[in-house]
Amino acid sequence: MEATPLLEIKDVSISFGQLPAVKNISLNLYKGNTLGLVGESGSGKSATSLALLRLLPPSAQITGSITFAGQNLLSLSEEEMRRHRGRDLSMIFQEPLTALNPVLSIGEQIAEALRAHNPAIDRKSLKEKVLSSLRQVALPDPERRIHDYPHQFSGGQRQRILIAMAIINQPRLLIADEPTTALDVTVQAQILRLLKDLQAQHDLSMLFISHDLAVVSQIADHVAVMQHGEIVEQGPAETVFLHPSHPYTRKLLASAPTMTTDRSRPLAEIP
Ligand SMILES: Nc1ncnc2c1ncn2[C@@H]1O[C@H](COP(=O)(O)OP(=O)(O)OP(=O)(O)O)[C@@H](O)[C@H]1O
Ligand SMILES: [Mg+2]
Repeated sequence: MEATPLLEIKDVSISFGQLPAVKNISLNLYKGNTLGLVGESGSGKSATSLALLRLLPPSAQITGSITFAGQNLLSLSEEEMRRHRGRDLSMIFQEPLTALNPVLSIGEQIAEALRAHNPAIDRKSLKEKVLSSLRQVALPDPERRIHDYPHQFSGGQRQRILIAMAIINQPRLLIADEPTTALDVTVQAQILRLLKDLQAQHDLSMLFISHDLAVVSQIADHVAVMQHGEIVEQGPAETVFLHPSHPYTRKLLASAPTMTTDRSRPLAEIP
């Protein structure tokens, strides 16, 4: 018998007013696995991830069910949801600079993420935990750098800081929405490696979102391809990557640059 998924998205539809953004999607994520959600801009990836955290604007209508560890997140009160957010369910956003507060040192911000769910924690353990989270994400010289502000770090370092903040409460599910898109290719590879290592160490379950199927295939066990709000294909990463069955997946693959891409030719069009 198959194990119960940690996260079960069932028949979920999301619309903004008259505009449908996500149409009746179903996805399962098992403990310790990474589910890659891939699709072009506007296909509904972020709407799906924001629905999980119940962070969609009030104008959005959601139907269906999102069951996390046996609870339907869509029927929880705001108060109950707040207890999950940033603790069991944590998120890394695309743009590290806008996700960090520019007027607070990074040490204060990570400490705040921890304190939000552990109000009684003493100063000494707070500092130890903040430093330990920064060591885990391999930020150089954390003792000195906790006093620095976001603008004093590189893009890759800022992403490491956000990852430290996202894992400090030992989440069961980490949602990473385009975590490497704003980074150059070398730094992108380092951040992917870091996420993979953290995942293995903590047996983390991860929803990894990207428009780039090549990136997703490096980290995901299971891949779901989204187009115009629908899941058009899903399966084990190798199968989707090596034997794509849907024409849209083939187009996504063809439009991903590789070492042998002829850069003088335009990328394949995606309708
Ligand atoms: N707050 C909102 N109000 C109205 N429409 C929205 C809102 N957020 C998203 N949409 C619409 O929902 C659809 C899906 O958007 P979504 O942000 O989920 O796309 P995405 O797949 O994450 O794209 P990208 O790769 O560009 O981040 C789009 O048509 C978008 O215009
Ligand atoms: Mg998005």
